[in-house]
Amino acid sequence: MKKKLIVANWKMNGTLASNELLLKSVIASSEKSDANIIICPPSIYIPQVKELLVNSFISLGAQDVSAHEFGAYTGEISASMLRDLAVNYVIVGHSERRKNHGETDVAVALKVKRALAAGITPIVCVGETQEQREAEETISVVKRQLAAVIQENGDCISEVAFAYEPLWAIGTGKTATPEMAQEVHSALRLQLQAATSKADSIPILYGGSMNANNATLLLMQKDIDGGLIGGASLKSEEFLSIIKSSF
Ligand code: PGA
Repeated sequence: MKKKLIVANWKMNGTLASNELLLKSVIASSEKSDANIIICPPSIYIPQVKELLVNSFISLGAQDVSAHEFGAYTGEISASMLRDLAVNYVIVGHSERRKNHGETDVAVALKVKRALAAGITPIVCVGETQEQREAEETISVVKRQLAAVIQENGDCISEVAFAYEPLWAIGTGKTATPEMAQEVHSALRLQLQAATSKADSIPILYGGSMNANNATLLLMQKDIDGGLIGGASLKSEEFLSIIKSSF
């Protein structure tokens, strides 16, 4: 059985003190976990989290990466800089970045390319808005978002992870039902199968108000290989309970 991937997206939350408290508690209780756990802190805390994770089984991730290699891009962080700090994963194309920073499918696909070139696994987010779901456009929206990444990255697509995150479920407490999520995951899997023979080993995570109560059923679905967790990853007990649901 594939190990589940449980990814914490801390978003713009935390302090030096609260990060340490949260991580120490997660590390202490997740030692024997059968899941792959990844923590994505705000980039300024990456060095702190890197130190805290030494000798743990938990991997380090980032929340975004530049589409450019280096140069005059004030405020941006390149894939090779993340690599320098031993970052192994990076979230790319989160809906909050697509919406608030105007990230297009093309920009997302380029970011994926930069991450892969630096030896970092990108976790690419796709998902529909409430209006798109009501208009029955969910599958076509996520397929379009995935197609852009496949087109730019060819065979390397087998080294990418994905997260289906319906926008209406993010931070709202509303979750897709396991059946709704599985339907989208299976459409993504089919599309990946058409692009690579390794599609079955590509992780497709679910994100959007995953919590201790709904994680078990979501993670039991055939094509749900883990979770991308925002709010619930900031509370150690809740996060640990999700990790426990994953095996
Ligand atoms: P949420 O966020 O768990 O708070 O809904 C998930 C995400 O945006 O990655």
